[in-house]
Amino acid sequence: MAIIKKFRIKSFKKIDTIIEFENVSLAYGNRLILDNISFKINKNSIHGMLGPNGAGKSTIFNLITGLVKPKSGTIRIFGEDVTNYPVYIRTKKFKTGYCPQYGGFFSDLTLHDNLKAISEIVIDNKNLRLEKINYLITKFEFENLKDIKAKFLSGGQKKRLVIALALLSDPKVLLLDEVYAALDVLTIKMLQETIVNLQQENHITTCICDHQARDLLATCDVAMILNNGKIIAEGSPADLVNNIEAKSAYFGESFNLK
Ligand SMILES: Nc1ncnc2c1ncn2[C@@H]1O[C@H](COP(=O)(O)OP(=O)(O)OP(=O)(O)O)[C@@H](O)[C@H]1O
Ligand SMILES: [Mg+2]
Repeated sequence: MAIIKKFRIKSFKKIDTIIEFENVSLAYGNRLILDNISFKINKNSIHGMLGPNGAGKSTIFNLITGLVKPKSGTIRIFGEDVTNYPVYIRTKKFKTGYCPQYGGFFSDLTLHDNLKAISEIVIDNKNLRLEKINYLITKFEFENLKDIKAKFLSGGQKKRLVIALALLSDPKVLLLDEVYAALDVLTIKMLQETIVNLQQENHITTCICDHQARDLLATCDVAMILNNGKIIAEGSPADLVNNIEAKSAYFGESFNLK
């Protein structure tokens, strides 16, 4: 963790809000999933979301991308009320990139053809397309994998492919749903470094959720914990692990960051 932690931004010189939820509620039928939640994601931060299965983490990503609409409340991206905007406007105008919990690639296409297919949708200029694909192949060390069908890639390679696909559209905001799930220790470390590198070099604001609390907190500047439709705690990783509510509802007494 030390390697990751030394990159963490300790304070923000000028805090700009990139994503804001204000009193957002969402229900499926009679079930209230999110109950009047408010939070902000600051520019160039890595913002973590933790919470038990079914807490509503993926639902928050769906609300940000516009895949679902809230029952009430306001969602702002770059200060603009996007609550009623469709998915494509949020993706194009506000440059939000989304790596879903499951899938996110074409199984029967090779890694290279996945990049090519998405680039044809999001980049008009053919030369720029090729340039971007080559940049991503180098950045993610895909050279030896590019002719393999995506369904045959390992779990970690698939996650890297999904992130690379999201990067084709030069996102300013990257939404990563369970990026560390079912990955080995070294692959998680490599992805952590990728995410921090995207923050440091590409100035991408990232919102990330995962059940690997320690791995998630190692890369986050701030994080929040969801439980029973509410945000029960929010703050820096160090503050969160000492938060009494967070301990009793999520971490347990013996959890630490080491
Ligand atoms: N389309 C839907 N229709 C009905 N209920 C849904 C729908 N999508 C999500 N839910 C419900 O909303 C709740 C939150 O789901 P969500 O997928 O956001 O949880 P999560 O925090 O991402 O969980 P996990 O950690 O298991 O991925 C769950 O109770 C789920 O059953
Ligand atoms: Mg989920």
